Amino acid sequence: MTLTREYSAWSPDEAEEIIAPIARTPGPILRCLQAIQERFGYVPADAVALVAQRCNATRADVHGVLTYYADLRTQPPAAIPVRLCAAEACQAVGGRELQREWEQACEADQRLAELTGGNEPVFCLGNCALGPAALVGDRLLGHASVERIEAAVGRLREQQGLQEGDRS
Ligand code: FES
Repeated sequence: MTLTREYSAWSPDEAEEIIAPIARTPGPILRCLQAIQERFGYVPADAVALVAQRCNATRADVHGVLTYYADLRTQPPAAIPVRLCAAEACQAVGGRELQREWEQACEADQRLAELTGGNEPVFCLGNCALGPAALVGDRLLGHASVERIEAAVGRLREQQGLQEGDRS
C-alpha cells in the first residue's frame, strides 16, 4: 500500500479539462487551483495564465489567490513530505522544540531534507490531544519526535522503493 500520493505529470491539456467545468461556476479561482494541485501535486507557473483565461480573471487575481493560501504549492511536493503542526495546542507540548530539532536534523542531512522537503508547517492536524503532531507523507503521527519522524520516513521510503538520491 502506498501511503503518499502519486501525481500526474503537468499537462496543460489535462489541466484545461479539469478546470473547464469549475470555471463556469461562481467564484472559481480557488477551486480551479485546488483541482490542479490535487491532480499534479502543485500549481505550476503555467497554470496561472490558464486559470486566468478560463475564469475570465487577470493573472494578478489568480496569483493573489495562489500566494494567499498557504496550502497551495507552486513547486512539486517532496517524495515524502513532512508537515509539523505549528498550532497552539502542539506548541504547548513541545511543537516549537520539535520544529527546531527537525530543522537541525535536515541541516545535518541534506538527503533527508530533499526527501522530505524539510518542513511545511501546518496549522492543526486534528490530533491535538496527541501533540506534537506531524504528518509524514499521509501518515499522521502523535507524540512526534525527530526519531519517530525519521522512522516513518524510512518505512515510507521502503514501501515506495525509493533509492538513495531519489527525490520523487
Ligand atoms: S494543534 Fe496540533 S494537531 Fe491540533
